[in-house]
Amino acid sequence: MFYLEGLQIKGFRNYQSEEIKFNPYLNILIGENAQGKTNLLESIFYLSVTRSFRTARDQELIGWNSNYFLLKGIFISEEFKNIVKVGYQKQGPVKTTINDNPVNRYEHMQQYPVISFSPDDLQIIKEGPSIRRRFINLEASRLSYSYLQNLKNYQRVLLQRNKILKDTFNRVQLDHIIEPWDRSLIEIGTDLIIERLKIIENLEKEACYFFEKMTSSRESLSLTYSSNVGIDEEINIMKENFYRDLLAKREQEIKRGSTLLGPHLDDIKIWINGYDSRRYSSQGQKRTAALALKMAEVSLFYERNNVLPIILLDDVFSEFDDERKMNLLEFLRYNGGQCFITSAVSQENLLQKLNREYKTIFIARGSIVDETIRPAY
Ligand SMILES: Nc1ncnc2c1ncn2[C@@H]1O[C@H](COP(=O)(O)OP(=O)(O)O)[C@@H](O)[C@H]1O
Ligand SMILES: [Mg+2]
Repeated sequence: MFYLEGLQIKGFRNYQSEEIKFNPYLNILIGENAQGKTNLLESIFYLSVTRSFRTARDQELIGWNSNYFLLKGIFISEEFKNIVKVGYQKQGPVKTTINDNPVNRYEHMQQYPVISFSPDDLQIIKEGPSIRRRFINLEASRLSYSYLQNLKNYQRVLLQRNKILKDTFNRVQLDHIIEPWDRSLIEIGTDLIIERLKIIENLEKEACYFFEKMTSSRESLSLTYSSNVGIDEEINIMKENFYRDLLAKREQEIKRGSTLLGPHLDDIKIWINGYDSRRYSSQGQKRTAALALKMAEVSLFYERNNVLPIILLDDVFSEFDDERKMNLLEFLRYNGGQCFITSAVSQENLLQKLNREYKTIFIARGSIVDETIRPAY
């Protein structure tokens, strides 16, 4: 098992200086609003991947009364016991060491996997297609290096092709210049679509499993890829479809100065009980679906690397009834690694039914004010 044994946190957000030991299985962080629960999850996330899930500006993470922050954690697995330090000083670079040896901040990310889920992740269900495309691009890039390469090439082709559409005024000339870019768009674009279809199939399997557990099999989830390119089992037919429709759009493309066909315009539809979740689902259903996608990531990560990531769940209980909360805790027990769950109100009643060892950490004004360990009975 892989887990974070303890954490020292200095000058990070509203934490001045704290030292905390964690339970290898389950940690419940309790505190009123704005006391530092999310900040603590953020510090664990930062220690693992050297970036925040809330901001791209490291500067914001430094406590208002400090001019640096320092995080020190001990990660334990069957193979290692590593002391990881990550520090950041105003204007300076982020410094990372493992057992006191300096490492590149990007290098060590794969080694300490962590998955976080926060209320913001609901956007993946609620918002427009671009956020779901970003999700699938991130997920696919993590799973396959060739996808990442394809994606970069595709974006380059798209940029060039759009430039040609915008800048070439002579039509005969345009048709001539754009031809090789059409070919590349179709070749790479088709590859991307095919890889996405595969990944969605895998994600769906895992997400459905989670969704069924959460809803005690009363509700169902499905994912479909919705492409503006005619999908076909025959790759050559798909490319022909792509080419035909691309030609049909040429006038419009010239008018708009941009590429109007391809995977950069696709979407993933998320269905609950056969209805489009974006339109027809309740808050709790949306949250369950968004969480299902994250938990699917956990499972796929495990399949690939044989390690269960650390799971950070921010405020996940607030829209679930007791049955869903219990189903979630049961799921995590058998399918999750070390978990951290924040909540504004005590979950003691539920947790005691779980019959599993866990630690409760009480947080107020950026300090740990109390902690209790409850063993399984
Ligand atoms: N860089 C910072 N320095 C000091 N305090 C901060 C910083 N950033 C946020 N805070 C404070 O942290 C608190 C919010 O903590 P947070 O962990 O989000 O609360 P919650 O317990 O509700 O999850 C707020 O009071 C906010 O003012
Ligand atoms: Mg919070």
